[in-house]
Amino acid sequence: MEVIIQPNNDAAAALVARIVAHDLRSKPQLVLGLATGKTMECVYHQLAQMHRTERLDFSQCRSFNLDEYVGLRPDDANSYRHYMDQHLFNQVNIKPSNTHLPDGMAQDLDAECRNYEALIQKFGGVDLQLLGIGRTGHIGFNEPLSALRSRTRVKALTPTTIQQNAPYFGGEAKVPRRAITMGVGTIIEARRCILLATGESKADIVAQAVEGPITSMVTASALQLHPRCTVVVDEAAAAKLREKEYYRWIFASEPEWEDYR
Ligand code: GLP
Repeated sequence: MEVIIQPNNDAAAALVARIVAHDLRSKPQLVLGLATGKTMECVYHQLAQMHRTERLDFSQCRSFNLDEYVGLRPDDANSYRHYMDQHLFNQVNIKPSNTHLPDGMAQDLDAECRNYEALIQKFGGVDLQLLGIGRTGHIGFNEPLSALRSRTRVKALTPTTIQQNAPYFGGEAKVPRRAITMGVGTIIEARRCILLATGESKADIVAQAVEGPITSMVTASALQLHPRCTVVVDEAAAAKLREKEYYRWIFASEPEWEDYR
């Protein structure tokens, strides 16, 4: 795991967008794993801008989102399909048929989960997976106690997550209780993972995920097992990390990051 600390939210999101752009230019058929949430909005905004101003080309790329709420139609304003259309897919030249999210309205949810896994495999697996982190330490919707080898499946959301997402739904009562999510095992099979966390509300959980033990109580900690995972944080989200100076030194000295400094 590598940790990159940026001065603020915009700089952190810009760095993540530049990594995506770099990988997409090196491999136009990139299979991108995508995440939702407030944190990612800034990354998608930057990618849309790069598409307009630098002709960043998404025409051959394919995407798989981490998760979707059970019971929300794709055109529901709170569905992750709607979020993705609004923040990224309608802003760039990705083919709609190349964008995939689990179908939270599927009659047979277990079959939907199996098919989603099979589809990821069919297209060769995820090259670059973007991740946020929830307050419970979840990646995707892998809430505490999710098996670290879990695959795509239906998960019950925790009260904390329901509370966190309530403002978007106009109250806790309206938040769906379940979601389909890629499993922790599915996520860490991606060839590269980038986790972005910004703001002081993430400082505690970032420190647990990065410097704490690997535990199913904080599923983001499973990323410590990943051979190529970068955690990008702003100063606020980095506040509780013990080894900040070491991370800064690595970022300043490693040739891989020369173009990003
Ligand atoms: C939701 C998503 C997660 C995301 C998290 C963080 O729970 N399922 O994938 O990481 O929100 O959201 P935010 O960026 O709004 O803090």
